[in-house]
Amino acid sequence: MPVITVKPCTFVLFGALGDLALRKLFPALYQLDRAGLLHASTRIVALAREKGEAGTHLATIEATLLRYVPAADIEPTVLQRFRARLSYLSMDFFTAGDYAPLAEQVAGTDPLIAYFATPASVYGAICENLAAVGLAEQSRVVLEKPIGHDLASSREVNEAVARYFPESRIYRIDHYLGKETVQNLIALRFANSLFETQWNQHHISHVEITVAEKVGIEGRWGYFDQAGQLRDMIQNHLLQLLCLIAMDPPSDLSADSIRDEKVKVLKALAPITAEQFGRQVVRGQYATGSSDGKPVPGYLEEENANPHSDTETFVALRADIRNWRWSGVPFYLRTGKRMPQKLSQIVIHFKESSHYIFAPEQRPLVSNRLIIRLQPDEGISLQVMTKDQGLDKGMHLRSGPLQLNFSETYKSTRIPDAYERLVLEVMQGNQYLFVRKDEVEHAWLWCDQLIAGWTQLGDSPKPYTAGSWGPMASMALITRDGRSWYGDL
Ligand code: BG6
Repeated sequence: MPVITVKPCTFVLFGALGDLALRKLFPALYQLDRAGLLHASTRIVALAREKGEAGTHLATIEATLLRYVPAADIEPTVLQRFRARLSYLSMDFFTAGDYAPLAEQVAGTDPLIAYFATPASVYGAICENLAAVGLAEQSRVVLEKPIGHDLASSREVNEAVARYFPESRIYRIDHYLGKETVQNLIALRFANSLFETQWNQHHISHVEITVAEKVGIEGRWGYFDQAGQLRDMIQNHLLQLLCLIAMDPPSDLSADSIRDEKVKVLKALAPITAEQFGRQVVRGQYATGSSDGKPVPGYLEEENANPHSDTETFVALRADIRNWRWSGVPFYLRTGKRMPQKLSQIVIHFKESSHYIFAPEQRPLVSNRLIIRLQPDEGISLQVMTKDQGLDKGMHLRSGPLQLNFSETYKSTRIPDAYERLVLEVMQGNQYLFVRKDEVEHAWLWCDQLIAGWTQLGDSPKPYTAGSWGPMASMALITRDGRSWYGDL
């Protein structure tokens, strides 16, 4: 039974002909329409600097929509309805005068959802101009990452937006928070009392968070090289996952209760000093290798690459959280481009029981693990020890999974894309899946000291073969603590 009431709004999309809008946002809006989650009077205004016939640009939007939405989901009646909602306006986001036609077109609509699929350097100008034409009062603004490239620049962006919008109407996107399995972390932890009693340093030995991508940088070299994997992935997606795993139970599901708890985790992250750096952080950069059996170039040989770049495409690190719950429990984080497969997963390793009664040689085999697979094959698996079957097996133990695979278990339900969920939540006015200003800033604070550490040490990224799990040093990072990355082949 649907539990939400669909509310009308006007959705204005800045940067409507950019990659994000075309690949993710229009398909998400279409899927919401198809699911009956767009109100009949909801309108979508596509805004971009490209001049010319509106019809030509709307045709581009439709053509890419048809490319990115699975053919089976294209329904002629929905497409027609969706088309009727759309309009296009050409404007220069920095030019105040260009906002008058927009103001005229959306006058009187409430709420106005202004989605900024543009670089953060434009956010301040858009906010100022929206306010100047009297549109700020009824608007919610949606900000894409990256919000700055360090603490100081993220503050500038946040302050520029805060001049015109209160925090309660700012929605900062981290699309990982819109993934179905990521939201399931909250259900898993707080709707199952079974786990809560175990969720601490008395029972958990360590936690792994891996976000691996098979793709390289391809057409995004210029952008990516300014950022690198730490800023692009750790500062946001991986730290958000860490927060959801490590936070204390919020007192309720309100946005601020959840975000208060996440901020406490970020504040409790132990800084990694330059002295600890060599043992706790590994930066890597992919070199020539192969993917799916085909040769692929290294990062420095990609199109438009600067062959002397020392930007990292891989980071592995050990993070420690200084509080009672997690003291002594390392969180190993690892993320990279050009890995053997696309894989996002969290593995919680539980400690052994205090008194071991089985044959000593079996002891290394014994461990309970909770594996939360975010993508692909979304699901949860709890590895438990059982007795091996058979008369001749005695009390020989084996490890087996208690498995919940979401697509198999809930066969009729399609797993929505993260952007569908996030756009819907903005329309509903729910902020709990969005990142608050202080979260962004604490995450930057922690990442800034890492960047300062490697700059001070002159640490260059270690090469790894494209299609491998990263530099050897990332294996050493965890084996040094007597452990290994779960599931690496
Ligand atoms: C983005 C990063 O935020 O997340 C990209 O900027 C990365 O570099 C992407 O490829 C990964 O997202 P997903 O949903 O494909 O895991």
